[in-house]
Amino acid sequence: MNILFAAVECFPFAKVGGLGDVIGSLPQELNKLQNDCRVIMPFYKTINPELVKDVKEVASFKVFLGKKSYDVSLLSEVYNDVTYYFVKNDEFYGRDRVYDFPDEESRWALFQISVIEAMKALKNDFQVHILNCHDWHTGMIPYLIKSKYYSEFGQVKTIFTIHNVLYQGEYERQTTRQIFNVEVVDEIEHNAKLNFMKAGIMCSTFVNTVSQTYCKELLNSDFLGKGMTQYLKERFKQGRFVGIINGIDYETWNPMTDKDIPVNYSFENYKDGKLAAKKVLYDKLGVDFYTNVPCIGLVSRLTQQKGLDLIMEIAEDLIKDCTFKFIIVGSGEAKYEEFFKELEKKHPFKVKCYLGYSEELAHLVYAASDMFLMPSLFEPCGLGQLIALRYGSLPIVRETGGLKDSVEPYNEFDLTGNGFSFTNYNSHDMLYVIKYAFRHFNGYPEHWDILVENAMDCDYSWTVSAKKYLLLYVKALKS
Ligand code: ADP
Ligand code: GLC
Repeated sequence: MNILFAAVECFPFAKVGGLGDVIGSLPQELNKLQNDCRVIMPFYKTINPELVKDVKEVASFKVFLGKKSYDVSLLSEVYNDVTYYFVKNDEFYGRDRVYDFPDEESRWALFQISVIEAMKALKNDFQVHILNCHDWHTGMIPYLIKSKYYSEFGQVKTIFTIHNVLYQGEYERQTTRQIFNVEVVDEIEHNAKLNFMKAGIMCSTFVNTVSQTYCKELLNSDFLGKGMTQYLKERFKQGRFVGIINGIDYETWNPMTDKDIPVNYSFENYKDGKLAAKKVLYDKLGVDFYTNVPCIGLVSRLTQQKGLDLIMEIAEDLIKDCTFKFIIVGSGEAKYEEFFKELEKKHPFKVKCYLGYSEELAHLVYAASDMFLMPSLFEPCGLGQLIALRYGSLPIVRETGGLKDSVEPYNEFDLTGNGFSFTNYNSHDMLYVIKYAFRHFNGYPEHWDILVENAMDCDYSWTVSAKKYLLLYVKALKS
């Protein structure tokens, strides 16, 4: 089957969060199942030139946004047996970061039209059967295929994958109509605005999201559905909305081979591995080292979604009552960055934060930490906890979305579970669970070993989920 992924992040070329991880790993797994899955993404200035040394132009075309025309060059490169296409237009993508510019509507409009132009240009070489569009930046593509480009691409089946319904791409209908040169119909409009997310939901052959619990949450909770619940219900009734949990790349995230950590480890020598990782991490960040002090890690975009308000509420109490190290690697909203900086200033022996993006430090934190804190307000899937499990760092999570599907809370009677969890969005519930985890870490090392073994034994590779994507594609082709 010929599959094309359209997305605006893809590891290792450009990653801001989990979307980049998924686009960087699922295609390889689909190709192992005898498919030809390729990826199309923008060519950002921030891409490491080493990774695109052999990139070649395979086509060039003009794209009209309204009356204005833009030159686009389509580049291509094979990396880890996957063919990548890059949409190059320096005016829109030759900037120093991926997101948050005032002209996002035009940036992603250009990308979406370019995806279709690329399919035209590649037709003789690569005829797309399944076009899997990821998140709102690609939501208009299914609509464009259903309308303006139907005669040429009507046979292409589209899958729209929701990674996070919070971000939707809502714009004035008039300007968007002009930019895309399309009619604004009900299917793409929400609250009298044009909505890219709704377009993807309503116009694709199938819609999926990245865990079963988030799928249910989107159907049952207006708070979590952010206005899309009614449309998703409609697609669900048609049997066209499902949840498939993400996997992680088991080669990138492997404590036995990871080059960013000092001692590679499996469950057998996990204590040596963690001790060595702690030494290097603490040394890099300037943290005093004590053996046997539990380390909590947090690697995250710093946004409200991630449950950081709960941490803000109880951090002082936790620090007052317990001996531990809290290592944060993250960047995002100023109020959270300032909070963690301030906390570090007040408690330099217990708290250390790196405010920025660092793959290398992230690997070290997963390896060094004994517990990984992810108390999200909502979490479509979450990859942090999956990576933590693989590195034997026990996740402490709130039971929402993919966190609920992947973390089984510790049961001290039958010694089952792979982490710790709490149900309500309540900081004192979280505080209680963190202290409970500390008590078990300090007081019951043999039980802790069992939990770590349970965690490291979990299989969150793509093996199972890639097959589920494939089944969905087959269903789409038959529809
Ligand atoms: P989201 O996609 O909502 O940000 P996920 O848990 O799905 O959350 O994925 C986050 C990914 O981004 C993980 O691979 C995590 O390690 C990585 N990550 C987040 N913040 C940073 C950072 N500051 N430095 C390095 N990696 C980060
Ligand atoms: C989004 C979600 C996250 C998910 C990721 C990859 O960024 O916030 O929960 O893991 O996409 O699907």
